[in-house]
Amino acid sequence: MNAYDFKGQTAVVTGGAQGIGYAVVQRLLAGGAKVALWDQSAEALQSAKESLSGQGEFATFQVDIANLKQVEAAADATDRTLGPISVLGNSAGHRRGERAGRELRAGRMEQGDQREAYRHLQRQPCAEC
Ligand SMILES: NC(=O)c1ccc[n+]([C@@H]2O[C@H](COP(=O)([O-])OP(=O)(O)OC[C@H]3O[C@@H](n4cnc5c(N)ncnc54)[C@H](O)[C@@H]3O)[C@@H](O)[C@H]2O)c1
Repeated sequence: MNAYDFKGQTAVVTGGAQGIGYAVVQRLLAGGAKVALWDQSAEALQSAKESLSGQGEFATFQVDIANLKQVEAAADATDRTLGPISVLGNSAGHRRGERAGRELRAGRMEQGDQREAYRHLQRQPCAEC
């Protein structure tokens, strides 16, 4: 695996608590960056905090990146905690159809919603759904 030198950098990774963003966080930490995980899920942030323990210097911030005030507050807090931001990894988002697929598998949907979810999944095929 390639190694990169991120020493002296402060990185923000949106959606950093899970999935692709989390993998990016791990690579940045391995390269010596200080990393701020920005994610809207408190639960995922807590879990990331526990699993990243000992892997480097990082901080977690609960923030909805669609909310400008929250983004500005998180940027200020990151600056105060880890220093000026020099790297941005943007991974916040949702896998298309993933939530619908999960609900369908768990059998938690009403019939009408199921039909809509199937239609959605047919339009947007997802390998994991
Ligand atoms: N996984 C794939 O195969 C794939 C392929 C192409 C594109 N993508 C895109 O890449 C991005 C990340 O995918 P992933 O598979 O890592 O998803 P994921 O669901 O595993 O992780 C996304 C993270 O983003 C966070 N998030 C969502 N909306 C947010 C918001 N408004 N503010 C802050 N945090 C937010 C979620 O809480 C979650 O922790 C998504 O936009 C997805 O559509 C994924």
